[in-house]
Amino acid sequence: MLKSDLPADVARAASIIRQGGLVALPTETVYGLAGNALDTSVVQRIYAAKGRPSDNPLIVHVRSFDDIGQVAQDVPDVARALAEGWWPGPLTVVLPKNPAIPGEVTGGGPTVAVRSPDHPAFQQVLDAAGVPLAAPSANTAGKPSPTTARHVWEDLRGKIDAVLDGGPCRVGVESTVVSLVTDPPRLLRPGGVSLEELWDVLGYVEVDPAVSGDMTSGEAPGSPGMKYRHYAPAAPVTAVTGTPVNALRYLLDRVENNPDVAVVCFDEDLGFLGPLREESDDLVVIPYGSQEDPDALSHGLFEALRTADGSGADYILVRCPESNDGLYRAVRNRILKAAAFQEAVL
Ligand code: TXA
Ligand code: MG
Repeated sequence: MLKSDLPADVARAASIIRQGGLVALPTETVYGLAGNALDTSVVQRIYAAKGRPSDNPLIVHVRSFDDIGQVAQDVPDVARALAEGWWPGPLTVVLPKNPAIPGEVTGGGPTVAVRSPDHPAFQQVLDAAGVPLAAPSANTAGKPSPTTARHVWEDLRGKIDAVLDGGPCRVGVESTVVSLVTDPPRLLRPGGVSLEELWDVLGYVEVDPAVSGDMTSGEAPGSPGMKYRHYAPAAPVTAVTGTPVNALRYLLDRVENNPDVAVVCFDEDLGFLGPLREESDDLVVIPYGSQEDPDALSHGLFEALRTADGSGADYILVRCPESNDGLYRAVRNRILKAAAFQEAVL
């Protein structure tokens, strides 16, 4: 385990990557498992370490918009406008791929996803490595993304060369992914940059049906990753959405009938659920933030899901915000994906 505030450790991380190794690096969203995006064998090792299907492409990370030509080609003006607004930051754009990027990075497809991460240590490693870095979230495929170095270690110890510890990730959910190869542009994954913010620059943006779980249209999802049950603990999860009174009535009922349940709840629910926890040893209650504070919810969600999973509960109930505004859209999406879109709407 290396430390991101020690320059010698950051230099060591870059040196491992230059030699073809894999290092988990902190970003503002989640930890990424980084390696040289131009080296096919490195990219294959990234898939192997995560246990990820090879048709699910990786995001390539660059220092700034100036380096985008190393990764993509035929870059439209709107990509520059988006980068001026949010790079470095939690926004990934999908563009036609530069032939220098191996097909292994893009799942064999003609497009590439690229972003510039907003974390000083990641930027320093990019600088020292001198190549674009492929970096999917540094979790085992199917687990919630890692928001601390400890989460990375739990999943990937022994399978990667090092972890650079930069503390907990600020945003806590993965970047927004928007495709610029479709007309109109298409939101493939909601994240730290909201749909409303994208509208300001792009005008109309279609939302991929996979974002809300609506796969009935028969369309293939725009982002291959959307078809996998992601971000998910091992125990079955139900999202619980609705007015506080109705949602709490539902929770209390489920908890009474089945004590081996973990409840991931809003801070505001503790007044009701806290006393119950004292009565029942089997009930696990994990607050993940105030329902009024989407930043807190996105920051705390994945850690809470991991804690719920580690508790040994038979199933997990997660209080889900009703709103789709701003960052709430990303929080709702990650909860619904963890729940395989099983939602109790009350
Ligand atoms: O915040 C993030 O984006 C983090 C940090 C480490 O940067 N990375 C991340 O990578 O979440 P990953 O691999 O876990 O998720 C990448 C998502 C997947 O859903 C994948 O299918 C999609 O982006 N994606 C990658 N390349 C694509 C492409 N060419 N077209 C459409 N979707 C793509
Ligand atoms: Mg991931």
